[in-house]
Amino acid sequence: MKANPSPPANVFEFLDESHREIQRQLVQLRGLIEEIETDGLSSAHKPIAQQVLHYFNREARQHHLDEETHIFPALLNSGDPDVVHAARHLTQDHGWLEENWLQIEPALEAAANGNQWFDAAELRHALNVFEALYTDHIILEESLAYPEAKKRLGSLDNTGSGREMARRRALASQGQNNSEIA
Ligand SMILES: [Fe+2]
Ligand SMILES: [Fe+2]
Repeated sequence: MKANPSPPANVFEFLDESHREIQRQLVQLRGLIEEIETDGLSSAHKPIAQQVLHYFNREARQHHLDEETHIFPALLNSGDPDVVHAARHLTQDHGWLEENWLQIEPALEAAANGNQWFDAAELRHALNVFEALYTDHIILEESLAYPEAKKRLGSLDNTGSGREMARRRALASQGQNNSEIA
């Protein structure tokens, strides 16, 4: 069993790292779909499809939930119309991202099970939409939402919610590693 990496000390580093991971998973997903489109599904694609499926079903959804629980409330209560608008926009994006993901998930699940009933070109089109929205979303979070939240939640790490978030994710990761071994 490989050791779990220590969670970043700062909650915003942790959130930034989640964005880097989302971007890595999107690259992985694009490579997978392009290969399937060109050469057809092979058994080598199954574990990659499974891993990406697992990531967006669990980690990415948990990331959105973390933001809605720990970050956005401070923005919605800021009294600054631009900041409030951004927080509402970002929350709505999470709904759109979920809808986009549900366009991709069944095909990816099929690929993970070795079935290619889906049209790879259509799947690539769905990914284009998903990726574009995620990219805009992450840019708005890192350029506006996180800096604004940082100003208002300077003591987040000391209140325990940041540590709670990181600890929960570390435990989830540990559980995942254990189930992979079992
Ligand atoms: Fe978000
Ligand atoms: Fe985010």
